[in-house]
Amino acid sequence: MHLRTPDALPIAPSEITSESHYENRRQFLKDAGLLGLGIAGMGLASRDARAQPPQQGTSIGGAELKPELTPWEDVTGYNNFYEFGTDKGDPADHAQKFRTKPWSVAVEGLVAKPGRYALEDFLKPHKLEDRIYRHRCVEAWSMVIPWLGFPMADFIKRVQPLGSAKYVEFTTLLDPKQMPGQRSPILDWPYVEALRLDEAMHPLTIFAVGVYGKMLPNQNGAPLRHVVPWKYGFKSCKSIVKIRFTETMPKTAWNVANPGEYGFYANVNPTVDHPRWSQAKERRIGEFRRRDTLMFNGYAQQVASLYGGMDLRKFY
Ligand code: MTE
Repeated sequence: MHLRTPDALPIAPSEITSESHYENRRQFLKDAGLLGLGIAGMGLASRDARAQPPQQGTSIGGAELKPELTPWEDVTGYNNFYEFGTDKGDPADHAQKFRTKPWSVAVEGLVAKPGRYALEDFLKPHKLEDRIYRHRCVEAWSMVIPWLGFPMADFIKRVQPLGSAKYVEFTTLLDPKQMPGQRSPILDWPYVEALRLDEAMHPLTIFAVGVYGKMLPNQNGAPLRHVVPWKYGFKSCKSIVKIRFTETMPKTAWNVANPGEYGFYANVNPTVDHPRWSQAKERRIGEFRRRDTLMFNGYAQQVASLYGGMDLRKFY
């Protein structure tokens, strides 16, 4: 494992609601060119707004998980982003010069408001929130990550999917000049992921633009990725340039590469093993002991109803 020391250390987990977090938020907006653009609900009007604990958006594990936050060095140094290489340290090493400005996102398919949105316009109406989520990789390691983002449902309501839309597909930038991994046929580039529309609309599903109160580092999927905390990490598409609403189930990169190993749903499920290894346990990065993996990554109460009546062995 290859770890990188960040230029500026982020806040310590114990200080997540502190002044430094507030200042990080200002820095975040400045870096993103968003300061002064009137982003809704950023809590910048008064310092009192930041005196409140960060919004977890839900009560799930927020307080309970806080002391367990995975250190910044691991969150940003141990990554899967095959466009920049297949070793965990490759993305941090090879993504530093990746250009994320200017950036735009195309919204296509079965939607009343398609179009190409400059990133600033894409983000402007949305209220950014802190969301501390468990992150479980299909490779049986896990982290706890404090994302900064906004509910995907807010964006979806804004672009108004048509009644026939059943799925949402996300596509990563295709740019082999900048992304050396795309010069090798590791996957059928560009990377594509997809969710059922109700999964995408679930309040736990977010678009993330930051982590630890700072802009997303390139290796974590800058400038825009999504996060679905009850699914294996590969469901979170990084560096998104296209969002398409469809009636039929999209083909996703890992499912195309190896359908026997990576299903469309990819729900964290300790009772359904990956064909080559057990999913019953996981190792939290930074720990030696192995923990039990929780059904739906610990979010069963919130999401199990999405899969009522489905055989999760078949729809893995
Ligand atoms: N998105 C793209 N474009 N390319 C990738 O290789 N890897 C996935 C997912 N999104 C991947 C991707 C996998 S396997 C994981 S576990 C998560 O990103 C890792 O996200 P993180 O590096 O922020 O922890």
